Amino acid sequence: MADSITITDNRSGDSVEIPIQDGGVSSTDWRKLLPNVWFYDEALMTTAMTQSAVTYLDGDAGILRYRGYPIEQLAEHSTYDEVAYLLIHGELPTPAQYEVWQHDITYHTFIHENMRKRFLEGFHYDAHPMGMLVSAIAALSTFYGDAKDIFNPESRQKQIVRLIAKMPTLAAACHRFSVGMPFVYPDNSLGFAENFLSMMWKIAEPHYQADPRLSKALDLLFILHADHEQNCGTTAMRVVGSSHSDPYSAAAAAAAALYGPRHGGANEAVIHMLTEIGSLDNVSAFVESVKQGKGRLQGFGHRVYKNYDPRAKIIKAAADQVFEVTGKNPLLDIALKLEETALSDDYFVSRKLYPNVDFYSGLIYQAMGFPIEMFTVLFAIPRTAGWLAHWVELLEQDQKIARPRQLYIGAADRPYVPLAQRT
Ligand code: CMC
Repeated sequence: MADSITITDNRSGDSVEIPIQDGGVSSTDWRKLLPNVWFYDEALMTTAMTQSAVTYLDGDAGILRYRGYPIEQLAEHSTYDEVAYLLIHGELPTPAQYEVWQHDITYHTFIHENMRKRFLEGFHYDAHPMGMLVSAIAALSTFYGDAKDIFNPESRQKQIVRLIAKMPTLAAACHRFSVGMPFVYPDNSLGFAENFLSMMWKIAEPHYQADPRLSKALDLLFILHADHEQNCGTTAMRVVGSSHSDPYSAAAAAAAALYGPRHGGANEAVIHMLTEIGSLDNVSAFVESVKQGKGRLQGFGHRVYKNYDPRAKIIKAAADQVFEVTGKNPLLDIALKLEETALSDDYFVSRKLYPNVDFYSGLIYQAMGFPIEMFTVLFAIPRTAGWLAHWVELLEQDQKIARPRQLYIGAADRPYVPLAQRT
């Protein structure tokens, strides 16, 4: 049997045979046979927009690998900053490379004073930190004019380090502003997650040291969220990056996509949902209402995973370790009952709807004291490494500007009617 497909244009009888390579067929031959006939693929559900070597995902088997390394092994043995290096460079760092990378990521954590004083402090007092973060990422492009030099490898590397390093500082600054607390400067003696926790929680103590079990758990969550191939946010990064925008502008678009409740905003929606359910007695009625089309089970279902999200499995196990320090999140029992009820119900089983990464992450964040509005911000911090890895790949592939087609379904040609003649 040939590893190919044949398309025939029944209008002309012409056919073309297209080989299946890496699980896909190239549109180049299709276009030759069928000029001006567009492949209609709502939301790009069956279109591969790129070839990528960053992340492998098998949604049916529940497999996730960064650069070939299973997520379970990275979660157990690695750290977020090492994973960020792996995603960007394609290989795990040698000890010497890791030392330089850690140094760079640590020493680029400071933000320009004007970013804080003039920009962030200009927001309304109750601004959502994610809205602030999206704007702050874009604003970085105005501080680093050299970021436009995207084909200069040295400049590209500089922006990558800057953005990964500054994300926790910006994120914590957005939180501190939104709760009326003074900005905390980065502490370069601390590791990536520890430093973020210090900027979040420090009050008057000269040196804030987070409980190592909590900084480790946060680092683990950062690893799990670092990349997830061509999701909505990463696609936004690639689409904007394909116009050769600077990386801050492209990352701001990616963060804006992440903000939505169907994407990174789901972790926030999960806590609202569990709070609304309120007690174990209400779980069944809630599941029934979802089945009748009244809303969705937040943190359930995935475009690609038709199996248990491997990240959710790791997070569920890590939750117990966090709760040992913080005390159990009272919403956990509701979440467990909800999962059990849904997974034994044919509505969810037949549609292959399993808990995704957002189902349990919010419970951990909440137990650690993060306000709900910060949850998507916590997702954006590590996803920055993934966005940038895809941005570098896009530039190295010299990909064309993204420009999909449409099937026009609007009005046909018609003459303009002057206002006075319209009824
Ligand atoms: N609760 C109840 N029903 C659902 C859910 C859900 N969470 N998700 C999908 N369905 C149903 C949907 O109603 C449809 O049923 P039917 O065939 O009878 O019309 C079927 O399952 C397929 O749904 P879909 O909307 O076509 O699936 P999709 O691939 O377009 O959507 C999704 C994927 C993640 C947007 C969706 O599952 C969802 O809205 N989930 C809740 C939000 C969520 O948890 N998002 C986080 C995603 S993981 C983190 C990330 O990538 O950012």
